Amino acid sequence: MLPFSGPSSRWASLLALVSLLCALFTPTVAVKHENFKTCAQSGFCTRNRAYADQVSSLGASFTSPYALDPKSVTFSKGQLTGTIVKTLPNGAEKIKLPLTITFLESGTARVTVDEEKRQKGDITLRHDSKARKERYNEAEKWAIVGGLAVSKGAAVSKEAKQGTTRVVYGPAGIFQAVIKHAPFGVEFVRDGEVQVDFNGKGLMNMEHWRPKIEKEPKEVKEGEEPVVEEAGMRSSEDESTWWDESFGGNTDSKPRGPESVAMDVTFPGYEHVFGIPEHTGPMSLKQTRGGESNYNDPYRLYNSDVFEYDMDSPMTLYGSIPFMQAHKKDSTVGVFWLNAAETWVDITKSKVSSNLLSLGIEGHTDTHTHWFSEGGLLDVFVFLGPTPKDVTSAYGELTGYTQLPQQFAIGYHQCRWNYVTDEDVRDVDRKFDKFKIPYDVIWLDIEYTDGKKYFTWDPHTFPDPLGMEKQLDAHDRKLVAIIDPHIKNEGGYPIVDELKSKDLAVHNKNGDIYEGWCWPGSSYWIDCFNPAALTWWKSLFRYDKFIGTARNVFIWNDMNEPSVFNGPETTMPKDNLHHGNWEHRDLHNLNGLTLVNATYNALLARDKSEEKAGGVRPFVLTRSFFSGSQRMGAMWTGDNQANWEHLAASIPMILSLGVSGFPFAGADVGGFFGNPSKELLTRWYQAGAFYPFFRGHAHIDTRRREPYLAGSPYTEIITQALRLRYSLLPAWYTAFHEASVNGSPIVRPNYFVHPTDERGFAIDDQLYLGSTGLLAKPVTAEGAESVDVYLGDHESYYDYFDFTVYTGKGKHNVPAKLDTIPLLMRGGHIIPRRERPRRSAGLMKWDPFTLVVVLGKDGNADGTLYLDDGASFDHEAGAYVHRRFVFDNDAVVLRSEDLATEGKKTKEYLRAMARVRVEKVVVVGAPATWKAVTQVEVNEEGDKSSGAKRMVGLSYHGAEGGKAAWAVVRDPGVGIGRGWSIAFA
Ligand code: NOJ
Repeated sequence: MLPFSGPSSRWASLLALVSLLCALFTPTVAVKHENFKTCAQSGFCTRNRAYADQVSSLGASFTSPYALDPKSVTFSKGQLTGTIVKTLPNGAEKIKLPLTITFLESGTARVTVDEEKRQKGDITLRHDSKARKERYNEAEKWAIVGGLAVSKGAAVSKEAKQGTTRVVYGPAGIFQAVIKHAPFGVEFVRDGEVQVDFNGKGLMNMEHWRPKIEKEPKEVKEGEEPVVEEAGMRSSEDESTWWDESFGGNTDSKPRGPESVAMDVTFPGYEHVFGIPEHTGPMSLKQTRGGESNYNDPYRLYNSDVFEYDMDSPMTLYGSIPFMQAHKKDSTVGVFWLNAAETWVDITKSKVSSNLLSLGIEGHTDTHTHWFSEGGLLDVFVFLGPTPKDVTSAYGELTGYTQLPQQFAIGYHQCRWNYVTDEDVRDVDRKFDKFKIPYDVIWLDIEYTDGKKYFTWDPHTFPDPLGMEKQLDAHDRKLVAIIDPHIKNEGGYPIVDELKSKDLAVHNKNGDIYEGWCWPGSSYWIDCFNPAALTWWKSLFRYDKFIGTARNVFIWNDMNEPSVFNGPETTMPKDNLHHGNWEHRDLHNLNGLTLVNATYNALLARDKSEEKAGGVRPFVLTRSFFSGSQRMGAMWTGDNQANWEHLAASIPMILSLGVSGFPFAGADVGGFFGNPSKELLTRWYQAGAFYPFFRGHAHIDTRRREPYLAGSPYTEIITQALRLRYSLLPAWYTAFHEASVNGSPIVRPNYFVHPTDERGFAIDDQLYLGSTGLLAKPVTAEGAESVDVYLGDHESYYDYFDFTVYTGKGKHNVPAKLDTIPLLMRGGHIIPRRERPRRSAGLMKWDPFTLVVVLGKDGNADGTLYLDDGASFDHEAGAYVHRRFVFDNDAVVLRSEDLATEGKKTKEYLRAMARVRVEKVVVVGAPATWKAVTQVEVNEEGDKSSGAKRMVGLSYHGAEGGKAAWAVVRDPGVGIGRGWSIAFA
């Protein structure tokens, strides 16, 4: 080899040096895998996977050791009870597991299995632990708020086969549960077919309590089989993770030993399963037991602060919702695994080929899921659909529908870590106005506090918080301030003194106050499972206690997994103790929910006058969540990165959350870590305009990136995206209302809107806004000039801005230059919007409406509008407008019909809204026969001022160059809250 001497080699060395330096100084942006367990590092995950492997290797020679004792079975008032007996391999010992199967009025079935010995407290704990002996049975208390009424119609059928009990239930008795006695299993049947099968693969496993027997390690001689102890199989039992478990320098004392619960749930004939957020990766969940493009680990649900998280991964994130939907053509079913402990879910699929191919009958795919949690009850709800909407609404009936937020909360939120002074906040506020950019909320991250002591203000940087809030209020804007659950352990801080003296913090395994490390340094954690802690927390938010907060201040709860910098997997030790002596292990995934619950209730009780007035709706943002958190506010997907992959990943993540009951979701616009290019920032705003929760946020080390800083043309394009969001707020608010009454997602994936369109089931990069027929395809690739939009049916779709027509199922290439948001309107819908640009949502309150009538192929269209004061709870007393707009092609009439139910405050509200009118009707796809029409007849119910009937002008614009014809009715002057009709012929 020649020595490096020539100029080119000098360049090469220089380049090498530069790349080395870059590698050294460019921050590596990747999760620290070593901080989080893989399945192989989790005892119960390994044990349950090993169990599954053994079951499959034993094949037909395996029999599940769980059998329902037929003599124990009773059925009364919609509920079957009995005892499952788990027979240990020696045959002598039998473990009793009480079973309840409850058939609910809604058509949902619930299977619950407990452990008798532990129910009775008949066990001993190791290490003198004070922990509770029962299996955790309070997840229901936090997650479930309704839908538990027991079915009156459910009944045991006489036609059951030998060894089974058959219960007929559900609406008009169309569902059946076939309970198999030995081995125990349940098949849930609809339309004569098994839709959901429990324990069909025999993976049910309840690790029963057992005392630790100190034994000499047994020598296993060559050729000799090891002794079998667990679950009726021949296996070498590895006890190494039964009694204590170490990870990352922390040892979990596990005073109850092994206690996991597991079940396999098969969806026969279902190729797609969705849900179990929060994960990155596709909405249609992947297989998890290896193989090309599959994952190797199960999906994990263990709420964690995962720094710099990976793309396309089954790793856990900040929140978890153990609810899954399975979908096939014309049928959706679901399960909700109500367990708050660490949980993993394995997914595999098997193709079943058809013997009847010659008859044109194709094979199908079955999806097998295997769920296991570290402890707690086995408690599973089964939903038999048959539509996606049926499943999400039944799940929502149990866990609650999403909160109907205040109007401001669905506008744009401007955040960064941090706005550094109150003057900084005022300046940003002024700049938004200067550049005529709408926004509703500015946010304060942790630096506003005095040394990370929550409920205080830094006296040097925020000397005048009330003055700052007053400036925001002048344009009906709000402030959101962060309050985290860790309380600084510092002398003279009254909050920590109270926390300690009232004994309201989480305890360690010895029963002492638990101390860990977070933003403030040494900290304690409020235990929001404790009712006394809730009362105390409530008192802290009172206007006279949290000095410096006015009525336009709302709250952000972060780090509530909880994040503990020096804890195992950046959270609390599992053997910490909460109120009632429940171990942290039992309820970890609920922790975040309980903090938000406390904050939500605190915001309801900030002072007497607000309470008297019926209160204003709280706004709380949370990072950590569980089933039920949707009742209390919004969530965001945590610390993403300023790159195109994270922008793309945000869409399936938000869609996934939407079909899992938590639709008020968003991702940090611009990306939290790093500095986005201007193109990326612009595309992110265009995407964010279609996130239900729309907030720009950035890490403390990033450059400032408020929209007005981007410069031309970016600032103008971002402003257009924000204005689009604001003009569509009526459609958004209507979608939120729908979610709040029936659990439908606010932004919806293709399968939800087109449940029969098999080709589109896995599509997760475009979204429909509520029931409006608006279909957005955010651009998530650098340099894109067009995108493919997938249409799930043969209806006509029209470009939102220029009415270009797209027809035909499948992909269509749609222009998408940087200044263009690919946005289509599906024929057959009517979209409400408000077109006057304002500074904030609140200032649009009295603005007139435009209705965009997008005619379907059959010439008809309809749509809805929900409207209220956007702030108070008065809508619960009927203070709202809920209209259905129908364009009837036969009569050639557009009508406004009332969908509201009259209440105490209806009249008063309608009076206040009397001056809010429809200022324009745009009809897209207007028939050519309208060319000659110059006037239409308007009829308004009881409108004395303008007369019941009047004629108004219509202008017609013919179709040209692939664009649809359209017509405009200007100023029909009809009231938004009134009944009226406009006759076009
Ligand atoms: C972590 C949150 O995810 C992030 O959004 C926030 O800025 C920091 N904590 C600081 O509070």
